[in-house]
Amino acid sequence: MSRKKITVIGAGNVGATTAQRLAEKEMGDVVLVDVIQDMPQGKALDILESAPIYGYDSRVYGTNGYEETRDSDIVVITSGVARKPGMSRDDLLKTNAGIVKGVVENIKKTSPNAILIIVSNPLDAMTYVAYKTSLFPKHRVIGMAGVLDAARFRTFIAMELKVSVENIHAFVLGGHGDTMVPLTRYTTVAGVSVEELIPKARLESIVKRTRDGGAEIVNLLKTGSAFYAPSAAVAEMVESIIKDKKKILPCAALCEGEYNIKGLFVGVPVKLGENGIEQIFEIKLNAEESAALKKSAEAVKTLCEQVGKLL
Ligand code: NAI
Ligand code: 2OP
Repeated sequence: MSRKKITVIGAGNVGATTAQRLAEKEMGDVVLVDVIQDMPQGKALDILESAPIYGYDSRVYGTNGYEETRDSDIVVITSGVARKPGMSRDDLLKTNAGIVKGVVENIKKTSPNAILIIVSNPLDAMTYVAYKTSLFPKHRVIGMAGVLDAARFRTFIAMELKVSVENIHAFVLGGHGDTMVPLTRYTTVAGVSVEELIPKARLESIVKRTRDGGAEIVNLLKTGSAFYAPSAAVAEMVESIIKDKKKILPCAALCEGEYNIKGLFVGVPVKLGENGIEQIFEIKLNAEESAALKKSAEAVKTLCEQVGKLL
């Protein structure tokens, strides 16, 4: 079996940690790209030199160009600027739209068959930029946010109930922003809805902490945003694709009528396999959940309208 090739664009906090996780999990050979001279080469070599100790045989390369990325199976895009305290994800819109567009134009030439996983913020709008720029089929353009937001929700529930995180299954749908929709009704602990296990007011504060999860880390770090959990989320998505596991994960996918959303990338439950997004699952939402998802999709639409003018 030939090795898969995974390119990670942006060798900053999220990109470098993602490259490390993918190499350690032997997902394939990893190419790390950044505009900063020598930096991706240095980080790639450092990851490679930990291989004898950790015991993995992934090759890891660093580069400032695209030739080495040629014919990648998966391209993870993390390039851009991250939030500073007081900044919203949307403040990043203009700068990151230009960066993501430029990156995708290069990838389109060198890896026309790749599956794209977008991480750069504002996530849903940047995934839209990648789709519009690449003109790749919709199943090959995926945004990472829901896996991270659900992981935060799972963490807080596990802390609250003092149970294993592994027993908790959570869905967080909608845009990756203040309007995200943690679905408490479908969030379970060993199969039992959290609504039965945690009093309403307490659950609401856990939902709020989840929505504010990115800002909580930014306020603590002060010089950047989260990267350990985001890179873990990307690694889970890559693994589901590379191993054709067909996991059901919340990801930003192009909705064309699903959940009454048209022409927007919004977080919904999808099946991730070797072809990328193999199916969007439409779970039944009650009136309150539908209204929250609609509101979130409207926020994404506003950003996409702004970004559409920049393309
Ligand atoms: P960072 O600042 O540590 O790294 C970004 C890297 O991108 C830098 O090394 C920079 O030199 C590089 N870069 C800039 N322009 C480039 C270009 N044209 N080509 C290649 N590389 C380029 O930032 P960090 O923490 O890694 O975050 C990256 C992005 O991911 C940010 O936009 C951040 O908001 C977003 N993010 C999204 C998450 C999500 O859930 N979707 C979670 C965490 C971060
Ligand atoms: C996060 O949620 C910054 O979007 C990033 O941590």
